[in-house]
Amino acid sequence: MDLLQKGSVQIRNPSANHKNSFFCVGRSNMPVCREYSKLSNVFYFIYLTILCQILIVNQVQSRPFDLSTLTQRFFMSILSIKNLSKTYQSGSRKLTVLDEVNFDIQAGETLAIVGPSGSGKTTLLGLCAGLDSGSTGSVVLNGQALEKMNEDQRAAVRNKDVGFIFQNFQLLPTLTALENVMVPLELKKRKDARQKAQELLVKVGLGDRSTHYPTQLSGGEQQRVSIARAFANEPKILFADEPTGNLDTETGEMIEKLIFDLNKEQGTTLVLVTHDLELAAKTQRIIHIKGGKIQEDVHA
Ligand SMILES: Nc1ncnc2c1ncn2[C@@H]1O[C@H](COP(=O)(O)OP(=O)(O)OP(=O)(O)O)[C@@H](O)[C@H]1O
Ligand SMILES: [Mg+2]
Repeated sequence: MDLLQKGSVQIRNPSANHKNSFFCVGRSNMPVCREYSKLSNVFYFIYLTILCQILIVNQVQSRPFDLSTLTQRFFMSILSIKNLSKTYQSGSRKLTVLDEVNFDIQAGETLAIVGPSGSGKTTLLGLCAGLDSGSTGSVVLNGQALEKMNEDQRAAVRNKDVGFIFQNFQLLPTLTALENVMVPLELKKRKDARQKAQELLVKVGLGDRSTHYPTQLSGGEQQRVSIARAFANEPKILFADEPTGNLDTETGEMIEKLIFDLNKEQGTTLVLVTHDLELAAKTQRIIHIKGGKIQEDVHA
């Protein structure tokens, strides 16, 4: 207050003659200012160190440098769920499927949601991804409050930031495997949509089935097409509902590797719903859900 009244607060040029400050507010010979300068220099040093580490890691992994994603990865929740409930009206009876659920997920985290059949896992995943809206509560995905958006706005967020592997695949029956994978790429107006979709089908071991329609594919093959489609838009966050549920051990392991590689190579946040406790144990955190309530939230 005094400083303001004396008119001595000013942002000085970094090149000004200060021994121990990068940016100094106020006169450098004032004790408050000196303490402030030391503190800000410490924070600035930490910030620079983190940035350098990120740059080196990105260089090694040949990833483009994206400051907003990286800042978010270190300092922000990518998903924040507050007092989320979902109820359905069945005749005169109210069915509470999710009951006051709260949790946050940090960008780059890997997490499994486990619980008995009917406990609300698929419902929760759908709400987190903006596929449906809760009865009460809030879902903030990548800084955007989904409950304040209309369906078109939520669809835009999904297409930009989200990959979703559905428990029941949800492939479009009138499109071939290749065309199904091309959908998110075409929505993003990617000129190389066809080529990229074909590469993804090869990655999930279906390079030779691109012209087949979903009805001509087995359950496990449809599952893999759905995985390739979820990978297509290089999502910031991938929601996977029983991603290996329909696959034999060998194919399941291949898909598991692809999913975890996405996390390591692109920093994609992973939220897996699974009954497979071995798969869950490979994530950094396990949320146990029962009767629509979180029972336990365990970090590895
Ligand atoms: N549209 C709906 N109308 C009424 N009830 C619904 C609806 N959708 C889901 N439910 C009910 O919500 C509960 C939770 O369903 P959900 O699919 O989320 O369970 P889940 O934990 O994913 O189960 P599973 O492990 O079997 O996949 C179930 O009892 C289900 O019947
Ligand atoms: Mg389910």
